[in-house]
Amino acid sequence: MDTHVVILAAGKGTRMKSARSKVLHRVAGRPMIEHVLAAASALHPKTTTVVVGHQAESLKTALAGHSGLTFVVQEPQLGTAHALLTTESALRGQTGTLVLLSGDVPLLTANTLKTLLDRHITTVAAATVITCVLDEPHGYGRIVRDSAESGQQIARIVEEKDATPGERQICEINSGIYAFAVDGLFDAVRSVAANNAQNEFYLPDLVGIFRRQGRVVETVIVPNANEIRGINSRNELAAVSRIVREQKNAELMAAGVTIEDPATAYIDGDVTIGPDTIVHPGVSIEGRTSIGAGCEIHSGVRIVDSQIGDRVQVFNHCVITDATIADDVNVGPFAHLRNHAEVRARARVGNFVELKKTVLGAGSKSMHLAYLGDALIGERVNIGAGTITCNYDGVNKNTTTIEDGAFIGSDTQLIAPVTVGKGAYVGSGTTIRENVPEGALAVSAGKQRNIDGWVENKKSKVESRKSKV
Ligand code: UD1
Ligand code: CA
Repeated sequence: MDTHVVILAAGKGTRMKSARSKVLHRVAGRPMIEHVLAAASALHPKTTTVVVGHQAESLKTALAGHSGLTFVVQEPQLGTAHALLTTESALRGQTGTLVLLSGDVPLLTANTLKTLLDRHITTVAAATVITCVLDEPHGYGRIVRDSAESGQQIARIVEEKDATPGERQICEINSGIYAFAVDGLFDAVRSVAANNAQNEFYLPDLVGIFRRQGRVVETVIVPNANEIRGINSRNELAAVSRIVREQKNAELMAAGVTIEDPATAYIDGDVTIGPDTIVHPGVSIEGRTSIGAGCEIHSGVRIVDSQIGDRVQVFNHCVITDATIADDVNVGPFAHLRNHAEVRARARVGNFVELKKTVLGAGSKSMHLAYLGDALIGERVNIGAGTITCNYDGVNKNTTTIEDGAFIGSDTQLIAPVTVGKGAYVGSGTTIRENVPEGALAVSAGKQRNIDGWVENKKSKVESRKSKV
């Protein structure tokens, strides 16, 4: 039997007070609709249709990387039932089950979706609704059931705004996630009316419609309320993001990572971290980042899309993006590694050092105040404080090569393209404009002059000027 997925994402998201589409707001580093698509893919659907409307173009662009998505535009947006109706022509001729998801309910698991589909198919239902019992059902549609004598079947769903005070006491809520038999679905959707508080065509009205037709409507009650949380406001966005972070942190801790303060560890879903690594408070680890075993990531560090080996110390307040760091490296505090920076085994990067598109070879050190851009630095090289690779000539970026064992004295400028040969020395305060041969010493500063008595002299000149005034 075929499965079709429809994701509703056309709404304005008024309560977000945002210029961008609600479903593109990020939950744990990924747009919320990406979470929904990931769960849906576990059903191996024959078709996946996304209903777009508000901010349709930016949404299509953001999802362009997904193959096999069909977009239908709902304009104007007259409610969730109207949204489903816009998919009719895209699904013409299809049979089987339609699983309807909301772009703003991102934590739903693939397992729950499979349970939904199983229940729907085995009960031969016209519709199956995922529901949940909440302590605070405020804002959700409520599940109205038949009386106990009549078997407590789901009878209809009433929206908060249309509910009587009595119905608002109901704690079982509609998740907005359903399975429908495709057969007869669109005829039923067409019979939905908009005679309600919001003058919208409500998809949940289908429940009452099917029941009146004598068709089976089923429910799947999920025990974990977090799974079906919808995001309508920035407050809910923060709450759901916190849940995802807590889950991720719990997984990492179970796998042997120490997280000193889980409340302030911001670790995205795709991040991997090895055992016995310690994550200090106030750390952000994002995107496709992997960190090895036995590392220590100190407070105030942000790491994005980077690969870090084993036993690496990242001291406070480093920013590391698109970088590769090998085993046994120390970085920071206050270092900035970016754009294909590569730090090889046992190397040291100290405070106020920036590495851009630079390889720092095994065992090499740059401990203080340096800019190393577009540089190929060999092994066991010492980079003195205040070294700058002058990589940009105003038009092109040029490469600086520093070969194994070289020693670059403090306050050196290397005007690229330039090479410092193996084991060469560069004296402090040198401006390197030409290649330095292997084993040579390069100095460019002039000879030092000392003028004896200069300070006394100056003082007495000032005194005599004052006495004349
Ligand atoms: C909806 C349900 C409610 C349920 C809740 C669960 C309706 C009428 N109510 O309420 O019973 O408890 O979800 O989270 O369905 N959308 C469109 N086109 C539209 C309107 C909405 O595509 O014309 C999309 C939205 O972008 C969103 C989803 O449908 O992704 C749900 O719409 P929303 O307005 O958030 O519905 P709720 O008020 O949360
Ligand atoms: Ca919603």
